[in-house]
Amino acid sequence: MERRSFLKTLGAGMGVYSVSSLFDSATLGRVEAATRSVATQSAIDVGQNETYWREIQQAFSVSRRMINLNNGYCCPSPRIVTDAVVDYIWQQEEAPSYTLARLLPPFRESVRQGLARVFGCDPEEIALVRNASEALEILLFGIELKSGDEVITTTQDYGRMRTTLDQRSRREGIDVTLFKIPTPAESDEVLIEGFKNAITPRTKIILMSHQINLTGQILPVKEICALAREHDIEVMVDGAHSFCQFEFKQEDVGCDYFGTSLHKWLMAPKGTGLLYVKRDKIEKLWPLMAAPERMDDNIRKFEEIGTHSEAPYLATGEAITFHNTIGAAPKEARLRYLKDYWAKKLMEIPKVRLHTSMNPKMSCAIATVELEGTEPSAMVSYFWDKHKIIVVAINHDEFRGLRITPNIYTTLDELDYFCDVFEHIAKTGLPKSA
Ligand SMILES: Cc1ncc(COP(=O)(O)O)c(C=O)c1O
Repeated sequence: MERRSFLKTLGAGMGVYSVSSLFDSATLGRVEAATRSVATQSAIDVGQNETYWREIQQAFSVSRRMINLNNGYCCPSPRIVTDAVVDYIWQQEEAPSYTLARLLPPFRESVRQGLARVFGCDPEEIALVRNASEALEILLFGIELKSGDEVITTTQDYGRMRTTLDQRSRREGIDVTLFKIPTPAESDEVLIEGFKNAITPRTKIILMSHQINLTGQILPVKEICALAREHDIEVMVDGAHSFCQFEFKQEDVGCDYFGTSLHKWLMAPKGTGLLYVKRDKIEKLWPLMAAPERMDDNIRKFEEIGTHSEAPYLATGEAITFHNTIGAAPKEARLRYLKDYWAKKLMEIPKVRLHTSMNPKMSCAIATVELEGTEPSAMVSYFWDKHKIIVVAINHDEFRGLRITPNIYTTLDELDYFCDVFEHIAKTGLPKSA
């Protein structure tokens, strides 16, 4: 990224004045000062600047007695976010019938605004939900389909979303067609071709991941949405992993529907998600929990879920501020650098197969690696039992391996340690008991 556009990103995050917060502003101040000190560097250079990331690592409360390389599950929040959640919980408890029912809910609107700025859309197109599962179930259950209509998705889309379609199929007789994509895919063209071939005259909906959780593969959403439009097909994008891991705006993906978790790469409190529905699509989409008719064209109809804690949603404001203070571009560059760092080391080892493309367009923080001839689940146990390193086994019909996902708080030392243990396993095999 050009220096000028990085500066623009920085400016967008911080305005002309210093960022601070009611919560742990000292930490945020450190992050901001560090970011200012690298303001003249390109995002790629910042991504490799260890002095800078050492400052960012201090902003987290993660434990260093273990090495967590499974940030694909969900991510720890910076301290400032956790402090905010706790504080909002205290406020709720003051007098719930006033603080929870009346005082706090209006502040959701500024969080909606903040998310809309990050995603580059109208706030009236954003619903705050509990996670990607809820966002995507609203979409998959809320759209009108009749028996014989077809939904297509890949064999690598997320299990819960496929289960949702399967339930509609059993209940209402819709047809669900799964198709395979290459692992790894090295070009957009091969992926677009796969979707093109899967479309039939009965296809009404495409469900697609922006980034496959099993391998970190990034898919060309914009091109597939354009293709779908030619066939009058609607596309529902599972952005559980893409949002705030790498940089894009709504117009870069061009989708009508998008669902994501915010407790993944935005590092917002656990139990937060975002549903994006294009303005003119809101009215015809049914909410999961009933809302009054007068709310038919109001995005807030998807938030009619009964009594719930406001704390995670409100503290999402702090997560947005943290994300903007670092900047989306340097964060993406750092995450890709960390993936490249360990993957390049392991690729030197015989019998190692990477199921993720190293093409920067095709992957970012997440990648999956196989040591041929060694059972991934046994490796997971060994990494944890002997070294307290958290990695996750992927056992899919089409491939298997360990999914490795560092985060911006991960140190290079931690990745070196992981690579050393991996290399040791490759050389000597796993001990019999592992
Ligand atoms: C691709 C994908 N979609 C959806 C989800 C569901 O996310 P959540 O459990 O936060 O609802 C996940 C979770 O890992 C995922 O990887």
